[in-house]
Formats: sequence, C-alpha cells, structure tokens
Amino acid sequence: MAGRIPQQFIDELISRTDIVELIDERVALKRAGKEFVARCPFHDEKTPSFTVSPVKQFYHCFGCGAHGTALGFLMDYDHLQFTEAVEELASRAGMEIPVESSPGAAREQEDSRPLYAILEQAASWFGQQLRQPRAQEAVEYLKRRGLSGKTAATYGMGFAPPGWDNLLQALGSSGERIGLLQKAGLAVKKEGGGSYDRFRNRIMFPIRDARGRVIGFGGRVLGDDTPKYLNSPETPLFHKGRELYGLYEARKAVRNLERILVVEGYMDVISLAQHGIHYAVATLGTATTREHVARLFRLVPELVFCFDGDRAGREAAVRAMENVAPLLREGRQISFLFLPEGEDPDSQVRSEGRERFEARISNSVTFSEFFFQHLTNQADITTMEGRARLVELARPLLRRMPPGLFREMMLGRLRELSRTRTVELGSGGNTTTKQRQRGKNRVKTPSPIRTLVSLLLQSPEMANLAGDPRRFEAITAPGAGLLVQMLKLLQANPGLGTAALLERWRDSEEGRYLARLAQWSPPFEDRERLEAEFRGAIERLEQQCAERKTEELLQRARCGMLNDEEKSELQRLLSRNQR
Ligand code: UTP
Ligand code: MN
Repeated sequence: MAGRIPQQFIDELISRTDIVELIDERVALKRAGKEFVARCPFHDEKTPSFTVSPVKQFYHCFGCGAHGTALGFLMDYDHLQFTEAVEELASRAGMEIPVESSPGAAREQEDSRPLYAILEQAASWFGQQLRQPRAQEAVEYLKRRGLSGKTAATYGMGFAPPGWDNLLQALGSSGERIGLLQKAGLAVKKEGGGSYDRFRNRIMFPIRDARGRVIGFGGRVLGDDTPKYLNSPETPLFHKGRELYGLYEARKAVRNLERILVVEGYMDVISLAQHGIHYAVATLGTATTREHVARLFRLVPELVFCFDGDRAGREAAVRAMENVAPLLREGRQISFLFLPEGEDPDSQVRSEGRERFEARISNSVTFSEFFFQHLTNQADITTMEGRARLVELARPLLRRMPPGLFREMMLGRLRELSRTRTVELGSGGNTTTKQRQRGKNRVKTPSPIRTLVSLLLQSPEMANLAGDPRRFEAITAPGAGLLVQMLKLLQANPGLGTAALLERWRDSEEGRYLARLAQWSPPFEDRERLEAEFRGAIERLEQQCAERKTEELLQRARCGMLNDEEKSELQRLLSRNQR
C-alpha cells in the first residue's frame, strides 16, 4: 500500500478532473438540461436513469442508487482500489502523487513498479517455457484435461521447468533483480545465502488484478505430488484473501456481465471458459470473504456460489449464507449451486457440456430457498415447539440483513411458516412491518442540521453565510458535529466543491450519509431562494440552541446554582424567546 496521500492533493485532483469527460470516455453521456444522462453501467435498464452533475462533480443512478465522485466511479467501474484510482486520475491530470511523511511508506510506493514489471516478465517467461520441448509432458497434461492452446493463452498459462534456478538464471541478472524476484515471491532465500526458484516443474497460472496486472502465481504439479498447488506468498502486491482468480479475464470476455459464478479452483475457472462459460471466478484457496462478495456486487447483481454436493459443501454454503446476509437487499441475488457428489465444475462441465451446466446454474437454489430449507431441516414445523424454534433460528440471521423489501419478504415467509402474525427481530433489527408503517405516515420536516448539510452539498460556498460555526459545537443532535466540521472546513478552504467535500469523508459512516444527501436536488434553482433556505435553517438551529440552553439554565436555576453571568444570560434568552 502507498503511504497516505495528502488530502490537499485529492482536492486538487478532483478540481482538475472533469467527471463528465471521465465517464463519457466509458459510457456515452447525453446532455439533459444542466446534467448528463446515460443508461446506467451498474445495472441493466432500458431508460436512462444514470445522471452526472457537472456542478457537483457527482454521479447518481435513480434506478439502482449507485453514486459517487470521479474517484468513486473509477473504483466501481474500472474496479480499482482507492490508490489505483488516484493514480489513474493523477496520470490523466499529469500530476505527481506526493506521499505524506513516513519514509518507509514512500519507499514502498516507489518500489511497486519494478515489482509489477518483474512479475510480468516472469509470466511471459513461463509462457515461453510452455512452448519449449521440455514442456512436452506439461502440454500433454493440459491437453488431457481438455484445454486448447487458445484457452491457455487467454489465461496466460505457463510452465516452470524442473531445476532450482531456471527463472533466476533468466531474470536475476543483478543483485537488485534477484532481490525483486524474492520480494515478488518467485525466488526463495536460502539460509546460507543465495536463493532458488520457488516454482519448479509446475504448470503456472498467473493471477491478475482487476487491471490485468500480474500480482502472483499459482503452480500445479503435473502428477500427484503434494502440495498440489503452490501459491505465491503474501507480497506487497499479492493478498490472497482479497483477489479473485479469473475476474479480469471474465470482464474482458463478457461485455455486459450479468452474473458471476464463484467456484473453488483455478482449473474450474479455466475449464468452464474452455466450454464457453466465461463468467466464473475462483477464490484463491480461501473461503469467500465479505470483501470478495462486496466487490462482485459492484459489478453484477447476481452471484451464484458453486459447492460440492457433499456435507462439506452444504456446510460451506451455510457459512457463505451467514457471511453474505448483510450484503443482501432487493435487486441483488445470491444462489447456491450444489454439484453431484464427487464432481467439481471442471469435471461436470466436461462431462455434460455448457448447456446442461448452465441449466444447473439457472436452477440453483436461491438464498431464501436455501435459508428456509436449512432452518426447516433443523426444526419440525408441524409442532408448535418446532415453529417457535424456527423463529429462534431465523432471527439472528434476519437481523444481519439490511432492513428493506427483501428482508420484509423473508420475514413474511417466516410468519407463514411459523404461523405467527408478528415476528419481532429484537435489538438491531428495528423494523417489523408495523413499526415501518407507523414511521411512514408521520410527515417529518427535515431537521435544520440535515437541511444545512444538504444545502452545503449543493452549494459549498454558502458556508460563508453561516457565521462562526463554533457556536454550534455544544449541540449533541445527530449530524451536528459533522455540520460544524463541514462549515469550518469550507470557511477555511473557500474553493472546495461538492466532490472534494465528499472525498474528505470517504469510507466513513458520515461519508455514506453525505453521499446520500448529495443525490438530492432542490426543487428550485434560484440562488436567492437557496440562500434564504440556508439562512432560515441557521436561524432554526440557533433557536434550538437557545431553547436547549434556556432549559439547562432554568433547571440549574431551580437548584439555585446560577452565577451572575448565567443569570443575565438566562434573562437574555428568555426575552429572546418571547420575541
Ligand atoms: P482443488 O483441489 O479443488 O483444485 O482446490 P482444482 O482447481 O479442482 O484442481 P485440479 O482440478 O485437481 O487441477 C481448489 C483450490 O484450492 C487451492 C487452489 O486455489 C485450488 O484451485 N489449493 C488447493 C491450494 O492452494 N493448494 C493445494 O494444495 C490445493
Ligand atoms: Mn478439479
């Protein structure tokens, strides 16, 4: 990871980038009044609801709710990490990324380019070795497994010949380069000095990141030796728990990915592609993490997890179900595909071909089906006791799901199965249908804090109208702290725009709140009206402050605890309230 990138640099970067231009390079935009629109690249739609605002430098889809700044767009659309997205924008804008303080971090940042380069060179060298006579056995092995030369090339497959130093001889031409090979996980340091090739006599699978850069390798033995697969160790570029094998290739092969199949093995991904199913990815010998799933949901609305049909497979599915529950909401679908015992996707697709395999995918068990199947296996719902147990078992899982339509539907099914009219989720799950509807009927005027924050996101320069924000510091209402911070920041940095403001709160709870509010557009446009709204909200906030202070002083006055200064303040406040 890079060291911290200074916030001023991000501000500058955002101000030099035009989000309209950036997005238009990837998704053709059409002007519509003050904004630009297109069919949303993040979900499937017929009429355009994806909107880009040049003023706010912010995009938002009314259909699926996707939204963000230029940086956010690059992260979601090009599937980049934050630092990568910053790099991309910086190189567009012709800017150098300064790295804050810590010299260690700065050095690491400098080092990553040679590291990428040596990994790329190694991948291409392994690829060449597969075409040498001594790779004959490897080539035959791949053919026996049904792979064509084309598939092997798509996945950049290669061969590490037998011997302790073939790669070192080929690429380790200097001490520095040997050091790089070690750092990249390709060479292993010997105890007594010197080093040797990590991968020997193995078929090589380069692992690429979302941009297609090689970051590590998996290597398979040709026979039955162990370990069957040897993988790159964790390196500065390679983190096993985060990457997905085949994702880059899938995105390249399928223009509009609609669903992704998550399998276990390298060979599963490749064999499926060989048979025309180009949308499979594999975790790297680890369980599927929430981070994996969140990444995939940014790309497609539908995920299918493939498991073995045996007990271990079902147990893995239960873990996956618990793991992904927090990410489920309407519009996102997860299902589970259980293969016949003893088969994996590779063997299955080879024996029955694409069509029948895809029929299995279409018939896979949906999350909700699996959920209730799993629970009703553990509770006999023909008895009252069993139905009570069902509710008990379901509750913690449902509680993990975000409130919303999908969870309501699950609750509805649970009520049917348990024959109970209401099912309370208890703490953490604050929405039974009843409570929701009660909330809905109440018409709420937005709090002054919310109004001010929203208006600042529309026109950050209005911060100047607020006066000294420190007088609001004592307010404890939700959002007050954030408002004060925003006002201070904007008053100190007059040129800051909406997008730069949002970037300050990236990856925080407040940031998500701000991004939601930024999607709002006021129903009127003229400046005076906006300013009047802003001033009005400031006044209401002052009023609230005053009321609270009055109450506090009155309370203490009753106990005779006021000093002279406080007494006169109370008098002032009381007369103000009578105005
Ligand atoms: P599998 O053994 O199911 O792999 O392990 P596979 O892809 O089906 O292999 P083939 O068909 O025998 O060639 C699934 C995944 O677990 C990791 C690898 O990522 C592999 O693809 N794994 C497995 C290891 O990392 N090391 C091992 O020794 C075995
Ligand atoms: Mn296999």
